[in-house]
Amino acid sequence: MNHKTAENQVFSTQIISWYRANPRELPWRGIKDPYKIWLSEIILQQTRVAQGLPYYYAFSETYPAVKDLALAPESDVLRLWQGLGYYSRARNLHSCAKYIWYELGGNFPDNYQDLLLLKGVGSYTASAIASFAYGEAKAVVDGNVFRVLARYFGIETDIATGKAKKQFETLADELIPQSNPGEFNQAMMDFGARLCVPKNPDCEICPLKSSCFAFQKGLVKELPVKINKTKVRERNLHYYVIQCGQDYVWNKRKAGDIWEGLHDFPLEENNGISFQGLSLPTSEKPQSIPKNYRHILSHQKLNASFSKLDIPTEKYLELTQWCEEEGYFLVSENEIESLAKPKLIVNFLNDQGI
Ligand code: ADE
Repeated sequence: MNHKTAENQVFSTQIISWYRANPRELPWRGIKDPYKIWLSEIILQQTRVAQGLPYYYAFSETYPAVKDLALAPESDVLRLWQGLGYYSRARNLHSCAKYIWYELGGNFPDNYQDLLLLKGVGSYTASAIASFAYGEAKAVVDGNVFRVLARYFGIETDIATGKAKKQFETLADELIPQSNPGEFNQAMMDFGARLCVPKNPDCEICPLKSSCFAFQKGLVKELPVKINKTKVRERNLHYYVIQCGQDYVWNKRKAGDIWEGLHDFPLEENNGISFQGLSLPTSEKPQSIPKNYRHILSHQKLNASFSKLDIPTEKYLELTQWCEEEGYFLVSENEIESLAKPKLIVNFLNDQGI
C-alpha cells in the first residue's frame, strides 16, 4: 500500500496536535532514562495505565537504577510484581537487569536492534524505548495502533495475522516523523487508548474525522477486521487450605503452567468430568467454603473453589512428613504476607481474614 507523503504528514501533524491539546500527566512522560522507560513499558505490557501506575512508582522507588534491580533477590522482585499477573514479565525484567549490569557493564542498549535482544522486549517495547530515550524513528505497533490506522486508512487486513503486523509496521514507520518520533509514538498510544477506542468512540469530537476513511464511509464498527479469535481454556481448580496451629501448607508452583514460582495451596484439578483424588494428610472430611473465585487470564478462565482442613497440633510431625513427601512446605500465618502469590489466592486470603 502506498500512501502519499502529504497524506502521511497530515495524519502525523493532526495526531501530534491532538496529543498536545490533550495531555496526560504520566510519570514516565518526557523522561530520557532508558531504564525507567523500559520499566514503565514492561509494566504496561497488557496492563492499563491506571493499574500500572502504582507498580511503576513502587519499582522506580525500590530500584531507582538498573544496578538496584540486578542486585535484588528474585523473590523480592516477584513480591513487588504481585497482582500484575504475567509473572514471566517480572522474571524477564530481573534477568535483563542482571544481564545489563553484569554483561554490558551497566550500559543500557542504546538502539532498536540491540534493545530487541533483551528478553521480554519485542518490537513494540524496543520502538518505545528507542524513540523516547534516543529519538530513533521506529513506530510502536500494537492493538491500539492497528485500530487507529485500520480506521483512518481503511485497511481491511485481518489484524490477527502475521501479514497485518508487517503491513501496519511498514505504514507506521512511513508515518512517524524523523523530527519527533517519541512524541508521535506517545500520541498514537494515547489517541488509541482514549479517543479512537474499540467500542463507541466519540468520532464527533475527533479532529481527524474529516479525513478518516472509516468515519466517512460509516465503517467505524467494522474496522479493524479481526477474524481469528484465540481459544480460551476453562479450568476448575479445587484448593485445600490445610492448617495446623499457626501453620499452613503451601505449594510453590512449578514451570510449565500458569503462575510459575508463585505460591498457592495443594490443588486438585477437574479433568472435565470429576475431580482427581488428591492424597490428604488425614481421613477427616474437609469443610468446603461456599464462595467460588473466578479469574480470567489471557488464554484461560479459572474457576476456583476451596476447602479447609484443620489438623490437630499433635499430628504436626506427621504433617511435616507428608509435606516433604508431596513437595509442600509449612508457612506460619505471619509469614504468608511475604510470599509471592497469584491475585486469586490474595483475594481468598483477604476474604478469610488470613
Ligand atoms: N502503553 C504502553 N506504553 C505506554 C505509554 N508509554 N504511555 C501510555 N500508555 C502506554
